[in-house]
Amino acid sequence: MKIGRLTLSDRASAGVYTDRSGPEIERVIAELWADPVEWVARILPDEQAQIAETLRELCDLEHCDLVVTTGGTGPSARDVTPEATREVLDRELPGFGEVMRMQSYAKVPTAILSRATAGTRGQSLVVNLPGNPRAIGECLPLLLPAIREALRHLRGES
Ligand code: MTE
Repeated sequence: MKIGRLTLSDRASAGVYTDRSGPEIERVIAELWADPVEWVARILPDEQAQIAETLRELCDLEHCDLVVTTGGTGPSARDVTPEATREVLDRELPGFGEVMRMQSYAKVPTAILSRATAGTRGQSLVVNLPGNPRAIGECLPLLLPAIREALRHLRGES
């Protein structure tokens, strides 16, 4: 299994602070999945064209089974991750964002500020997560059963 993780943050990409969200994606997946994973890690500023280009690279050239993004899903002007993601998707899977917002809302009322989405590009699944490292531990475990099943469908195993 090859997984791309992509952190979107102007400040983390400029080295203003350390990216804790990207490594948190690895930690949560390693804790819950026994599968051996080859990781491809990227970090970028909140620039739609660069994000879309990197998503295409991770899906089409790196052939990642799964690409998980973190950050840039909120309502501020620089938050463009869902736009960049939709730009590259063949098909959107809106249920991922819906479940994240619904389940997280019970704990954190601000969860509905995230516009995170997901979908497929070729045989790759792309999933947006919010940028807060705590949000990754709150959201990713909820999504893993559907991620696993989607990957089986994309490989033609289901
Ligand atoms: N979801 C969970 N589970 N936990 C959180 O702390 N933060 C919210 C929301 N979703 C949060 C969450 C907040 S405050 C924002 S602004 C949005 O995610 C978008 O965050 P992002 O722009 O870093 O992606």
